[in-house]
Amino acid sequence: MGSGGDAPGMNAAVKKFVDYLYKKGETPYLIYDGLEGLIDGRIKKAEHRDVAGILHRGGCVIRSSRSKRFYDAAYRRQAYENLQKHEIDGLVVLGGDGSFRAMDIFSKEFPLNFVGIPTTIDNDIYGTEYCLGVDTALNTIRDALDRIYDTASTFNRAFVVEVMGRECGYLAVISALGSGAEICVIPEVDFNRPVTEARLKDEIAHGRGYILAIVAEGTHKTQEIAAWLEESMGMETRITVLGHIQRGGAPSSYDRLMAFEFTVRAVDHLLKSEHSNKVVVYNEGGFGMMGIDDIVNNKYRINPRHLAMLNILD
Ligand code: F6P
Repeated sequence: MGSGGDAPGMNAAVKKFVDYLYKKGETPYLIYDGLEGLIDGRIKKAEHRDVAGILHRGGCVIRSSRSKRFYDAAYRRQAYENLQKHEIDGLVVLGGDGSFRAMDIFSKEFPLNFVGIPTTIDNDIYGTEYCLGVDTALNTIRDALDRIYDTASTFNRAFVVEVMGRECGYLAVISALGSGAEICVIPEVDFNRPVTEARLKDEIAHGRGYILAIVAEGTHKTQEIAAWLEESMGMETRITVLGHIQRGGAPSSYDRLMAFEFTVRAVDHLLKSEHSNKVVVYNEGGFGMMGIDDIVNNKYRINPRHLAMLNILD
């Protein structure tokens, strides 16, 4: 089942899930439309043709949802009964923070056997360095920034580019590092405007002709930064909001590989558990399992090494 925001690589994970379970002599089912579909019983025994030709596609062919109804206990009971009706004794959930919160509640109420796979381009789930879809989203942003640099440098303009990240600056920080942006504004760090202003004015006096500012969506400061640049630097300023472009697109080779790695581990774990409530995590080059309790009760923090490398934050 997919849940929450889609991320490139989900289809590769769905395909591997079906193929791998058949290989293991098990019967895979697909739950369509996320938690909403689980409530309404949109559950189907998977066939190979359901997952043929999907590996390279973005989005999620079994679709997803952000379900409000799932926060109502009566609907959760209905969802559980649907699992029982199909004799489903293991559940793999591709989801982000909100989905895991929902699964935490669900698994405390009913004797589930489930494993989560972290999928969100925001890369903001506690306990894992990597969430499926992040590499593809970063490549999409890189491509857009390279193009913006071309036009920004030709016109001597300032560009403010807003990247996704509901409450976190991961995409902004890695993209600012990779593009050599002059400004990066993220929710985790107070933006030091006077220091940045002095630095940029000095650079302009020494020949700088253009400015690229990356602003994380979660700061809600895109307009403000653009107005400030226009006024204080006296530079014509343009805003580009990359938006949902970052969520779509064919998964990178890395995300396809990670989809397989996460899925095989999730299935192997499920097959040997009776009441799992864990999430597959990836840290320092290795995979592990972490309890959903730990995941949802701790707050993700951006890697301080990445912040340190980005020496334009203050
Ligand atoms: O999945 C994460 C994310 O893409 C965030 O970066 C963004 O804030 C949010 O989802 C957008 O959600 P929706 O697609 O529901 O508008």
